[in-house]
Amino acid sequence: MGYEHDVAHPLLRVEELGDAPQALRLLGEDWVVWRDGQGQARAARDQCPHRGARLSLGRVCAGQLECPYHGWRFDGDGRCVAIPAVPGFTPPASHGLAAQPLVAFAGLWWLVPPGSNPPVFAAESEPRLRKLTVGPFDVATSAPRVVENFLDMAHFGFVHEGWLGERSHGEVPPYQVDATLDGLHAHGCRAWQPRSNLQSTEGSWVDYSYRVPAPYTAVLEKAPDAQQGWREGIALFICPQDEERSRAWFRLAVPDWDSSDEQVAAFQHTIFAQDQPVLESQRPRRLPLSGEVHSAADRMSSAYRRWLRERGVGFGVLP
Ligand code: FES
Ligand code: CO
Repeated sequence: MGYEHDVAHPLLRVEELGDAPQALRLLGEDWVVWRDGQGQARAARDQCPHRGARLSLGRVCAGQLECPYHGWRFDGDGRCVAIPAVPGFTPPASHGLAAQPLVAFAGLWWLVPPGSNPPVFAAESEPRLRKLTVGPFDVATSAPRVVENFLDMAHFGFVHEGWLGERSHGEVPPYQVDATLDGLHAHGCRAWQPRSNLQSTEGSWVDYSYRVPAPYTAVLEKAPDAQQGWREGIALFICPQDEERSRAWFRLAVPDWDSSDEQVAAFQHTIFAQDQPVLESQRPRRLPLSGEVHSAADRMSSAYRRWLRERGVGFGVLP
């Protein structure tokens, strides 16, 4: 069992894609991403059908991707439209690439296989919340390990002591986990947070829930705001680069309109820098099928493992 391929995968931030083609890694394969003449992002395997050169080393001319080796050009649909060494020749369909358009969602370009959609993140469509994408964060472990870290409340007092938790408030009160139409929902979660965001000045209990709407996505939702009724949220979107490397972004939908983008990003970077060494120390890097033990506080990650197993994905280590 490996990763699930037939779900939407985030590749890069929308504004990260400029005039040059970009090389990206997804599910152990090399991809090239570029913008066509209409500014629409396109993706294809990063290998020229002519002699196998990496297309991401080439350039984009008038929305067409030009191979660095012999200058063959490909349009947004992947069709080969020019072979400079044979100017009068019209290349047949067999000389093309399998290119596909990317979908913009939550500040990221997504590769979306037919029949699937980007994951659900309700707070994204609340206009009164501020949206900000922070990342990428590269981490040397499998995507499910990163998801579990995001769902894990028992590490706050240790990994994020003084930020998201305190040793003296290490307990994780009981919470519920339900299966939903599209995934998992952990609700009734409470955590003591000394400084849960940039605006907070003193510690408090925070009520929230977690959702896993797709295998490599996790969403934290705060309890609805008493006056305004919105539900702020933070989504973690992960690109599984290969079985032991991941690229992650946070999408914030929060009521904080005062902090600068840089301040919000710096906070997320601080928190992630606390998680990263522990995440990268976990062995095996792929979620094991057995051999780890659980406590009652791990109800959500246990449910996540079961859910992945039912989908037949997510575990790189075979018995
Ligand atoms: Fe790409 Fe020849 S290898 S044009
Ligand atoms: Co953490």
